[in-house]
Formats: sequence, C-alpha cells, structure tokens
Amino acid sequence: MISVQVNAGKGYRVLIGAGLLKELPAKLSEVTGSKHVMLVSDDNVWGLYGESVKNRLCEAGYQTETFVFAHGEASKNLSIYGSLLETMCDAHLTREDPVLALGGGVVGDLAGFAAATYQRGVPLVQLPTSLLAAVDSSVGGKTAVDLPNGKNQVGAFYQPSLVVCDTDTFRTLPDAEYRNGCAEIIKYAMLDGGEELFGLLSEKPVKDRYEQIVGHCVAIKRDFVEADEFDRGLRMLLNFGHTVGHGIEACSGYAIPHGQAVAMGMAAIARGAVKKGCFAADSAQKLIRLIKDYGLPTELPYTKDELAAKAASDKKNTTDAMRIIVPEQIGTCRIQKIETADFPEWFE
Ligand code: NAD
Ligand code: GLY
Repeated sequence: MISVQVNAGKGYRVLIGAGLLKELPAKLSEVTGSKHVMLVSDDNVWGLYGESVKNRLCEAGYQTETFVFAHGEASKNLSIYGSLLETMCDAHLTREDPVLALGGGVVGDLAGFAAATYQRGVPLVQLPTSLLAAVDSSVGGKTAVDLPNGKNQVGAFYQPSLVVCDTDTFRTLPDAEYRNGCAEIIKYAMLDGGEELFGLLSEKPVKDRYEQIVGHCVAIKRDFVEADEFDRGLRMLLNFGHTVGHGIEACSGYAIPHGQAVAMGMAAIARGAVKKGCFAADSAQKLIRLIKDYGLPTELPYTKDELAAKAASDKKNTTDAMRIIVPEQIGTCRIQKIETADFPEWFE
C-alpha cells in the first residue's frame, strides 16, 4: 500500500493499494468516531461493489444509509444533489457523520458537494473506483454539480478526511474508462518536473502497475494542491490539454468523453507550441506517440474557430484574456496569459 499525505483542509491521507476496500472499516475508524455513515454510489458501481462495502461496514457496527443514482454525467445535477441531502436529513445524519463516495468522478463530485453543504459541512471519505477519480477527482477538494448551461457551475472547495483507493476495482472498468484515466495520467507525466513518469508510462502499460502509477500521480497533484488549494495560480497547470479539451467536449454536446478530449487537447497544444517555438518538435512527437499508444485520439475533430469560440466562453476566462498551459519540455509546462483573440495561434 502507498500512503500520500495531503496538507490541505485539515490534512488527510490518500491510501492506494489492492484490496483496500476490505480494510475500509478499520481505516474509517482512524478518522471518525461516528458509527453512522451515508454511502453514496451510482448503479453500476453499486452493482459491483456496493453490497460488499455495505455489509463490511454493517458487520463492523456502522449504521449504513445508502443513496444510489443512475450512472453518468447527466446525474450530476441539482435535483439528485437535493434528493441526496433530503435522504441524509431523513436519516438524521449529524455533523459528525461521514459521507462515503464510492464510484467515479461523478459520484465523488456530487457526494462531495453534498458533504460540503449538508449542515454546513460533514466529513467526506472518497472511495474512487475509476482510474480518473483515483488520479484526479478524489484528491484536491473540488466538488460540484452541473447546471443545464455548464459543467461544475455550482460547487465548493472541500477537502476529504480520507481517500481509500482500492486498485482491484479497476479490473472491472470498461476499456474506454481505462483510457480516459490514462489521458489524465499522461497529463501528469507532462507536469512532474522531469521524465520519470513519462518513462514509466512508455515502458509498461498503466494497468501493469496501478499502485505505483496512481501513487505517483497523486503525489504530483498533492504538490499543486498544497501550493494553491483554491486554484488561483499554480494549480492551473493541472489544466494542461483541458482548454482545447473543454472546447471539444462542448462542441460535441458532451458526446466525446473528457479523457479523449483532453488527449486531443494535449496533442493540439503541443503542435501549437512547436509552431510558436517553445516546445521541441521531437518532444511533441514523443508526447503524441505516447497518447496514441494508449489508444487515445490526437487529431482535432472541429475547426479552430469552433473550438476557440467555446474556449472563450469558458468560466475560467475573461472576455479579453485567457490563461493557457503551454508545454516547454517533457515534464514541464508553463502558464501563459494570452489575448483571447490569439488563442487559435496556440493550437493545431
Ligand atoms: P464517472 O463517474 O461517470 O465514471 C465513468 C463510468 O465508469 C460510469 O459509468 C461509472 O459507473 C463507471 N465505473 C466507475 N468505476 C467503475 C468500476 N470500478 N468498474 C466498472 N465501472 C465503473 O466518470 P469519471 O470519468 O470517473 O469522472 C468524471 C467526472 O469527474 C466528471 O463529472 C468530471 O467533471 C469530474 N472531475 C472532477 C475533478 C475534480 O477535481 N473534482 C477532476 C476531474 C474530473
Ligand atoms: N482537476 C484539476 C484540479 O483539481 O485542479
């Protein structure tokens, strides 16, 4: 097992290893004295792991309330968030009683936002079961739901009390979800300050050493979160590939999954940075090769004008200026402020 300490919020540990859900009651007792918990999941994950997690908690003496909703981004909305809060209230959960988020990023974001807001905040334990949730959404405290007009429009920064990532759960991930997670992992390989993670990913597939790779990514994310918990500066580097990626997702009406969109976004900004003279052509080729090796796309499915129009309307940008993440070397990117009108020059 790998343990990564994150010093944000009240401070918490991210535990990563095979079979860790079996140890959940013991790990939970290290962060809370409460014996009343709210277990939240989606229907897919519940069908695979829900009953066994619930039974283990009950056997250890936890009164376990459950809330299961339909899988998919469409469920990350105010209505399901409201139903979860009402379920918590009906079950008489108090401020001491934790919410346990068992699932991918949708479960983690929605249950996290409920934990952040129910009775002005109750403990949150993230139990990521998708690779993307393990390396990204379960760590760092971003919680949210979507509005009809945009993703993650209502939310809070709210750090968990504990993250328990059982890498055995990745065995049941559909291949497309595995690849989506790998796109985010490749992003981290462009941010670790050297070529170590990039080398590991090139050497062997992620699925051959989940514990090591997830641990590496979480440690990288930890550093950005500790430096900039509220996303005002350095943490923006975690958006490498995401500005173009968000444009692709929006243009597709969210039919193109996030991981694929980020993969195309990383490739596009790498080609743009080569043209601008700030990233070597052979480094861009290495990055694009790695993205392809993980079965991810690298060519843009929309025109630059279509993508630039969507990027300009992103909530993180002002009308005139935007910040983009530009690769400099394998393992190093920088934040660059540009005029919004110039954005199309920065990707190919
Ligand atoms: P998801 O939660 O929809 O999970 C993807 C699919 O995989 C779902 O159908 C789910 O039921 C299924 N699944 C999950 N674990 C499984 C398992 N072990 N076996 C079989 N199926 C499994 O999506 P995601 O990709 O995990 O997360 C995407 C969400 O995360 C988006 O809403 C995004 O906005 C959010 N996100 C948040 C942050 C953050 O910092 N909070 C960061 C990145 C992404
Ligand atoms: N997913 C990017 C962040 O947590 O900042």
